[in-house]
Amino acid sequence: MGIKNHLEVENKTGKAWILFLCFSCSLLFVNAQQAENKDWWKSTTVYQIYPRSFYDTNGDGIGDIKGIIEKLDYLKNLGYETIWISPFTESPQRDFGYDISNYTAISPQYGTMQLFDTLLQQVHKRGMKLIFDLVMNHTSDQHEWFKESASSRTNPKADWYVWKNGKGKNGTKRPNNWRAMSGNWAWTYSPERKQFYYNAFLPFQPDLNYNNPAVKEAMFNVARFWLNKGVDGFRLDIISAIYEDSLLRNNPPSGRLTPSDKSLTIFFQHVKNNFLQEKSFSFSTELRQVTDEYTNSKRVLVGESHGAEKTLRRFCLDAGKPGLDMVFMFNAISMPFKAKKYHKMIENFEQYFAEPLMPTLVFSNHDRTRTITRLGGSVAKRKLQTLFQFTARGVPFTYFGEEIGIPKVRIPLKQGQDAIAIQNKKLPQGLVDLSKETLNRDECRTPMLWNNSANAGFCSPEVKPWLPTAKSYAEINVETQESDSNSLLNFYRNILHLRSKTPALQDGTFELAKNLCSNKILAYYRTLRNEKYLVVLNMSKSKVKNKISGGKQLISTHRNSENTTLLPYEGKLIKIE
Ligand code: NOJ
Repeated sequence: MGIKNHLEVENKTGKAWILFLCFSCSLLFVNAQQAENKDWWKSTTVYQIYPRSFYDTNGDGIGDIKGIIEKLDYLKNLGYETIWISPFTESPQRDFGYDISNYTAISPQYGTMQLFDTLLQQVHKRGMKLIFDLVMNHTSDQHEWFKESASSRTNPKADWYVWKNGKGKNGTKRPNNWRAMSGNWAWTYSPERKQFYYNAFLPFQPDLNYNNPAVKEAMFNVARFWLNKGVDGFRLDIISAIYEDSLLRNNPPSGRLTPSDKSLTIFFQHVKNNFLQEKSFSFSTELRQVTDEYTNSKRVLVGESHGAEKTLRRFCLDAGKPGLDMVFMFNAISMPFKAKKYHKMIENFEQYFAEPLMPTLVFSNHDRTRTITRLGGSVAKRKLQTLFQFTARGVPFTYFGEEIGIPKVRIPLKQGQDAIAIQNKKLPQGLVDLSKETLNRDECRTPMLWNNSANAGFCSPEVKPWLPTAKSYAEINVETQESDSNSLLNFYRNILHLRSKTPALQDGTFELAKNLCSNKILAYYRTLRNEKYLVVLNMSKSKVKNKISGGKQLISTHRNSENTTLLPYEGKLIKIE
């Protein structure tokens, strides 16, 4: 071999080596990234967008996908890592998207599939994740599946929904006594089939029949459609209702009007036979197998269900089998703002959702009264609750607008656009106003407040927004709060940023600091390896002597924080040195 050839061969071998090394390194990097990514959901922070109310770019008074794209930097800069968007697929909008007529098409009110693809790409470009809201339990009565199913008792989709003959001589009496989650009766008569169909929520939302394997497969394929697009997971609407008792037995009575963590009750009825059936837990395992088909990145499942922690846990881990990654733990929403109550709540979370499970920390959503209103308008309490939400062990979920303290906007039932309000419009308004829970969900869905211009920057001033904006928008809006270092918004920003650079607050162990806890104080440690943090929350209206000595205070909810005391509703995050 001549020198030139020899060099060429060496050169080639050298190049090959370099290529090989680069390839190996990139594999290592990809593997490391995958290893790192597998648990991304455990340490993430989630922001829920109600698309109708977020940002309107096309002048129809309704928020849209383009609006979400335009506001992604706001969320990124604030420090959120994941967004969950309430449904935006085709729907007659009687339940504003939770009544789906086509699972794989975008509602024209919100945009196009192309815009959705851009949104997803823009989310990923920013290193963020997107969770899709999947309504598996029911469709709209305008869905082609239902139209076909309702057309006769013999059509090919005849048993895609839960049909049952009525009782009584003419078969016009409901098949059993079940109540739906929204309070109404759970059966609706179809004159075409001369039968009743079951609806766990509202009458125009017929429940799919998951005992039929074809239904399950069709819905799993819907999931695959969105997973193939690259969504990072699903929020599973009303997953507690996915199965019913196969014998459709009557529900027993209950002494309560509304659900509690001990009993799932609706209008003095324990909904034992139409919610939380055994099969719902194994369904979670099957669904998990679908998301696990996607090995390139972890796709996450978060379920919506009421119930005690002990029951909720079964969605995530049942008989040793993994199912959903998370469930919403709604007990926190209505938990009285008291140290002892939070203490008990967090003990429960830790008991049932210890590693490898993860609790969720949820204080509001598009169905429930706005948090600040629940707390009597107190920004101090909201800051304290936020400190708890972002430092306790769990995945925090923020409902849009909570970060600036949008209050509940009173909208009388008679003016309600929400299907629940329409259903309840005959109730005396005086009684409704007394309730802490909203019967008109419009009240917690009013538009985002971006600035102090007319319509608060949600839509242009000459357009009528689909719901009125909160009157306080002149003071409560993003722009104003951005320029105030002491605002609720900047408190969110600080805590989000601190959390993102403090692994102990994301993945650290949790331990109540029992010697500091009292009727007024909730205190706990978060520890990871040799990093230890203490969170002390004074949940009372009085000043309390500070028993902690040493450590470095990283954050206080109060500007005028003192060393020796905890001010009323003051919370501190301290690094133990
Ligand atoms: C729960 C959703 O959060 C709610 O908004 C919806 O109306 C019902 N499920 C029915 O889909």
